[in-house]
Amino acid sequence: LLQDVATHPVAQQFQAFGMATQIALVLGGVIALSVGVHIAKQLLFKNPNEPPMVFSIFPFIGSTVTYGMDPPTFFRTNREKHGDVFTFILLGKKTTVAVGPAGNDFILNGKLKDVNAEEIYTPLTTPVFGRDVVYDCPNAKLMEQKKFMKIALTTEAFRSYVPIISGEVKNYFKKNPAFKGESGMVNVPKHMAEITIFTASHALQGQNVRNRFDESLASLYHDLDMGFSPINFMLHWAPLPWNRRRDHAQKTIAKIYMDIIKERRAKGDDGTEFDMMKHLMNSTYKDGTPVPDHETAHMLIALLMAGQHSSSSTSSWIMLRLAQNPEICEELYQEQVKNLGADLPDLTYEDLAKLPLNQHVVKETLRLHAPIHSILRAVKSPMPVPGTNYVIPTTHTLLSAPGVSASDPAYFPNPEVWDCHRWEADSPNAPTIVRNDASVEDEEKIDYGYGAVSKGAASPYLPFGAGRHRCIGEQFANLQLQTIIAETVRLFKLSNIDRSRKLVGTDYQSLFSRPLEPAFIRWERRD
Ligand code: HEM
Repeated sequence: LLQDVATHPVAQQFQAFGMATQIALVLGGVIALSVGVHIAKQLLFKNPNEPPMVFSIFPFIGSTVTYGMDPPTFFRTNREKHGDVFTFILLGKKTTVAVGPAGNDFILNGKLKDVNAEEIYTPLTTPVFGRDVVYDCPNAKLMEQKKFMKIALTTEAFRSYVPIISGEVKNYFKKNPAFKGESGMVNVPKHMAEITIFTASHALQGQNVRNRFDESLASLYHDLDMGFSPINFMLHWAPLPWNRRRDHAQKTIAKIYMDIIKERRAKGDDGTEFDMMKHLMNSTYKDGTPVPDHETAHMLIALLMAGQHSSSSTSSWIMLRLAQNPEICEELYQEQVKNLGADLPDLTYEDLAKLPLNQHVVKETLRLHAPIHSILRAVKSPMPVPGTNYVIPTTHTLLSAPGVSASDPAYFPNPEVWDCHRWEADSPNAPTIVRNDASVEDEEKIDYGYGAVSKGAASPYLPFGAGRHRCIGEQFANLQLQTIIAETVRLFKLSNIDRSRKLVGTDYQSLFSRPLEPAFIRWERRD
């Protein structure tokens, strides 16, 4: 038989080709065969107990490219085709998406025995944050760490943060050359990233750490940040230049924090400043173990990194939306004049509660521009999807996308319109929803170990997530963003550079949905 094959005219023609052509032909054949098998499997073998599959041509690649280019459009299109639960292939892994309030609840409030976040996130986050914190430890330990962080964010602490953030914003606009003169144009994400890190580091980590951001810390954090790219889900271990810089930055920053901790311990309680570092370095786990210094240092890195991308991208979107809607910028200014007094006294924590439109601008921007478009979980035991025949097997990854329900006309009339007034009860665009933020008292509450949070099961609006991994930075982020807006509109009128109503597109290439750069806006000094 072998001899017959070898003497077959096709085989003889193949042997007549050069080595390179032979390899190309074999590879082409293998690819064609695997594409054929992949397509046939999708068409012929449909498992009625698994969600419908998004059709794809190439194995492994699956729908990675269409999803990666524009996740919201990918979710919307496939939801229309397949319903609220469907599966697609993301880099070789079957990934099941469950959208809508029921889908959000199914994944985000999943039981610990069923869903797991650390398995997915640890390759990316552990080299950046450091060992033994967040996703480099059992979930029960993370819950305790979140409790330590959350307890530090008291009303008393918030009260002290507003003047700190106000001061940083005013100082930034005073000193930064891009804001010299009567008017100008700026690429807003660059400046919002700086304002976010200056305000967060000063409020959460104290003046001493903040001052170092004018020198070495800014570039070290930049190197650390490079570790947070999607490619590192696969190549986190690779000895690539940016990974080497990431590892060096992680060690150096952790050492800086640990040196400060040692100094503070040696000096004894300074009793002057209330900040996160002071709180964490004096915390103790339930089993009596004091939090080791390296864990305090790593939690400080994690907190700053967790907040940085989300808050900085949100504040950029806010400024872009205000430039697109200059009349809202004016309304925000007038709201302060009316509710705080024409002399615009220095902002306080209490003042923020008197500025509802200011709050609604943040809320509405997070509805349309939530920085985290996809939340992933590994499946640890087969999970029946309530109300369907589907059982999600442990070979799948789960993907929650609360942004889908946040832009669903079933809950938000005219969902594509950025309308900060929709959050007023009598607005024609008012949402038909239950909200799961800390201010809603009558919602079902649950404690995963870091304090009671509302379950959010019925809410289509979850920019801060839900369940055991829910954000603990929500109140801080709101306070930081509201203070930044209030200070900005006191100083400037914003508009698009061509005075149009255009808005830049979204960059989904990084892990966070941020504005495509350059994203220029025009500012004009109010006085
Ligand atoms: C978790 C959003 C700001 C610290 C989360 C999650 C979301 C989120 C959606 C859940 C992730 C998941 O379930 O996998 C946001 C948004 C922010 C923001 C939209 C700003 C606009 C902050 C800030 C901090 C912070 C300022 C710190 C001060 C955390 C932490 C977690 C978290 C520690 C918990 C991670 C876990 O338990 O797995 N955030 N966040 N976030 N966020 Fe935020």
